[in-house]
Amino acid sequence: MTDALHFDPNTGIAAIGVQLPPLAMDVRELAALRGVDPDKYTLGLGCDEMALCPEGYGVVDLAVGAAKRALAQWGGSVEDIGLLVVGSESAVDMSRPLSAFVAEELGLRGRIRSYETKHACYGGTVALRQALEWRLSGAARGKAALVIASDVALYAPKDPGEPTQGAGAVAMIIAEPKVARIATESFAYAEPAFDFWRPVGDSFPSVEGKLSLDCYKKATEECFQQLVGDRTPADALADFAAVCFHVPFPKMVKKAVGQLGESFEWTPEATSSFYEGMVNPTMDWNRKSGNGYTASLWISVAQALAGRAAGQRIGAFSYGSGFGSELLVIEAAEGAAAAPWADEVAEDLKSRRLVSQDEYDALRGARLAAAE
Ligand code: HMG
Repeated sequence: MTDALHFDPNTGIAAIGVQLPPLAMDVRELAALRGVDPDKYTLGLGCDEMALCPEGYGVVDLAVGAAKRALAQWGGSVEDIGLLVVGSESAVDMSRPLSAFVAEELGLRGRIRSYETKHACYGGTVALRQALEWRLSGAARGKAALVIASDVALYAPKDPGEPTQGAGAVAMIIAEPKVARIATESFAYAEPAFDFWRPVGDSFPSVEGKLSLDCYKKATEECFQQLVGDRTPADALADFAAVCFHVPFPKMVKKAVGQLGESFEWTPEATSSFYEGMVNPTMDWNRKSGNGYTASLWISVAQALAGRAAGQRIGAFSYGSGFGSELLVIEAAEGAAAAPWADEVAEDLKSRRLVSQDEYDALRGARLAAAE
């Protein structure tokens, strides 16, 4: 079944860099520390390990690490970059954009537009769409964009969100589509809500947990129904080899797919087969990173693209509290098969250290003191 999607032959993802921090904690250790049944975290939420940053390492280090990897793979020069956008909700300053901190480290200056985007976990996707549309509009005059999604997700100690913590960054060069093409059309849905927010001056987010689940599920249904349009869901999704989601915790994604199945009037078996075949396999890296906020969806997309044959199609559903959401359609290109970023993720996971309960306590204590 054909659709009306367009893929520009000259613009897409030219390179990907992923960076995970050097520490992590097994959620079973956290469960022991909090006196909670570990099955609640592993089976109830679907979590495994949460990436953590050591003292003195944070959102800028992650962003710079990912950007350096993407630039090295791309092989182009920083002089060819005309746009630098960093999507994040871990801003370090209310005025100075994160992109300025990153540009300093990368030696990026001159005839370039540089700024930060914020919309909770959706901020990285907004940055990517702006870069894509900047290229397609002609404003780029042949220059490339460097888009980075970088975050450190921490909740207050003992908060129900604590086992879903994580960190990571994904950088993408938006130029010639060596790795992937992105459909010009996308499917967005937004609705104002207070499901998850962090008032100015607060170190940790406030969360209406149940509401946040409902908002995420509603956003999923609204975006996918637009993709389906007047086709049947089976026809609309027939071309897809994988479907990636924002992953606050893997069970959230399973719940959202359950909601989709209901709205598509699928049998429980059909829903389960869609989840197990197309969605669950894209979350291996997320289970090791935890929630990377803006980076979360793009960690899943990076995994799904790795080793994929050219022409295979991937759905990418972005959700950010507040709330905003958008479903993108991506097609693997020739460079996806080699996927050098997959080796870098494997190296990050191999070299990182799992912290003990005492170390975690000390780390959180130090961060709380720094925040005061
Ligand atoms: P909670 O207190 O752990 O909730 O908080 P719960 O008591 O409902 O338990 C969770 C699940 O564990 C349940 O499963 C329990 O049954 C199960 P479910 O019924 O839902 O399928 N359970 C057990 N399973 C096995 N053995 C046991 C056991 N005990 C319980 N012994 C909550 C959960 C999600 C609210 C919390 O983690 C939280 O506040 N998280 C942060 C908010 C969040 O991630 N929301 C997701 C949607 S919003 C979003 O994605 C945006 C976000 O990324 C931010 C942004 O955009 O910037 C968060």
